[in-house]
Formats: sequence, structure tokens, C-alpha cells
Amino acid sequence: MKKVFALVLALALVLGCFSFASADAKTYKVGVSIYQFTDNFMTLYRNEIENYFKSLETDDVKYEITMADGKNDMAEQTNQVQNFITQGMDVIILNLVQTSSADAVIDQIVAAGIPLVLINREPLAYDADGKTLDEAYEGILNNAQVCYVGADARQSGTFQGEMVAELENHGDINGDGKISYIMIEGDPENIDAQYRTEFSVKALTDAGYEVECLDDQVGNWDQTKGQELCANALTAYGDKIEVVFCNNDAMALGAATAILTAGRTVGKDIYLLGVDALEEAVQLVKDGEMTGTVLNDHIGQSHAAVDVAVKLLNGEPIENYYWVDYVKVNKAYVDAQ
Ligand code: GAL
Repeated sequence: MKKVFALVLALALVLGCFSFASADAKTYKVGVSIYQFTDNFMTLYRNEIENYFKSLETDDVKYEITMADGKNDMAEQTNQVQNFITQGMDVIILNLVQTSSADAVIDQIVAAGIPLVLINREPLAYDADGKTLDEAYEGILNNAQVCYVGADARQSGTFQGEMVAELENHGDINGDGKISYIMIEGDPENIDAQYRTEFSVKALTDAGYEVECLDDQVGNWDQTKGQELCANALTAYGDKIEVVFCNNDAMALGAATAILTAGRTVGKDIYLLGVDALEEAVQLVKDGEMTGTVLNDHIGQSHAAVDVAVKLLNGEPIENYYWVDYVKVNKAYVDAQ
């Protein structure tokens, strides 16, 4: 009995030592502000930021993460950034509400000497003088610790167009020699929305196909809005619509419902494309209810963002841009998985 007691005591001492060691651990304060918590894709992204930070913790290094909801309101997000500065965050990860406000926000964070990782919304060509991030922040990017982690939205648009071009009828269901489409756009201020809109169609025209735009509306990345816009377009243009391009899957999921309700059949009398590869969308691709989507790699992007944040915390040199590839997700791809 005494032996058991001694053993328990020894164990308690050892464990005590360990907890003493971890009480000594360095805790880094990480401020993350996401443009809007209700966004489907950014929800996956922000959850993975937290999971991945946790997975990197050791007895000696901890990360205290403050995750803030920008509520799609730039004034609210500016406040959050100011609070992050007052709270003395060691690094900030920022998914801007408005890329046009990048200058002001970046300036404040840089002036406070806090390293910054911009994610998902590239502040490109929105500088007041029409300069790209590179040009506008040449000094800042090089001397201070600011970078952008994202995916090149041109690639996702191109993949959407290519998936249509690769179809047997190249999206020309009625054989009139042109591909008649509708476009459902994300937030028009967002470079992802602009590039996907442009490059999906460009992939078709570059391949030599004639296109006709029947309707182009803004659905702000939102499922309900996507459904509403697609339903309206189906009422207005009926069988003329051969392809429905959505800048993201949330809107494509809404469009899929509208297509079903209108009695149309994807793969037979209409085609439907999204971006993100949300689980529900991949399932629809598998079931033939969506023609294709494009993997917007939230795992790759969140890990790249956290890895560079850790580098910044360790005072290591960084690049100014980190790019993660998109992947084409059509039925053949899903079936092969
Ligand atoms: C895009 C994504 C959209 C939406 C948007 C937010 O990359 O495809 O679903 O999350 O970012 O900025």
C-alpha cells in the first residue's frame, strides 16, 4: 500500500513539474477578423485556422486566438482591428470586409508594428491610385511584415469554363451555335467575383466558342439570393438558358433548387457550375445535379496563413504572396476519389 502511495506521489510530482513547465509556456495572442461568419466557405476556413493553430501547440508554445465577426460591415471590422492593436496582438490575420479599405487598415496595423496576414480577399488594384498591392505597398511589404495568402481566382473561372467546353455538346444544348448562359455573381467589389465572371466566359471564347449572356446578376455569395436570381432568370428566359455559372457553391446550391423547381434537369437540358467544392455541392456533382465545381482549398489556404503567421511570430523572413491552387471537380473527378 505504501509503495502504491509512493508511486502516486512520485507521479503527482512529475505531473506537477510538467504543468509547471507549461505554465511557463509562451502564449502568442492572435487576432483574426473574418468578413462575415455566416459565409459558408469562410466558416470552413476559420474553423481550420483554429484547429491548425491548436495542432501546432506544444508544452512551450500556445496560441490564444480571438476570432471576430466583421458582420460584413467595414466600420465594425475597423473597430475590431483597433481593439486588436490596443490588446497588443502578436499577429493579425485579416479577411477584409472591403478591399477598398485595405490602405487605411494596413497602415494602422503596420504603424502599430504588428505583423499582418491578409487572407481570401486580395486587395488588388483598389489602392486609391489604382496601384496593385505590390506597387502600393512596395516599401511596407518589403520592410514590414505584411503578406497575402489566397488562390488566383482567374484559375477557378477558367476551370468552370473548361468544364463546359469539355462537355460533348460544349454547353450548346439546342445546337444553335452559341452557348447561352446566365451569370450569378458574388460581391462585385471582390476580385474573386470579378475574375470568375470574366475568366469562366473567357475560357469558352478562347476555345473558339460563341457565347451569349442572357442575364448577369449579383447574388453576394448567398444561397437564398442565388436561388431567387436563378428562379427569376428561368422564368424570364426558360429553355434558352443552357449554362448557369455561379461565382460560388452557396449560390449554386440555391440555383440547383431553382432548377429542380422549374422542372429542368442538370446534365440533360441545363448545366450548372459553382466554385468552392462545399461538401453539399460535391454530393450534387456526384448525383449529377451539378455539372461541376472547383475546389477552393480552405485547408491549404488556412494552413498557409497559419504557417506564415508562425514564421512572423518567430521573426523569420516571409514572402509577400502565398498562392494555393484550385482543383477542377467534375463527375469524373469525384467518381475517381
Ligand atoms: C470566395 C469563396 C466564396 C466566398 C468569398 C468570400 O473565395 O469562393 O464562397 O467565401 O470567397 O470572400
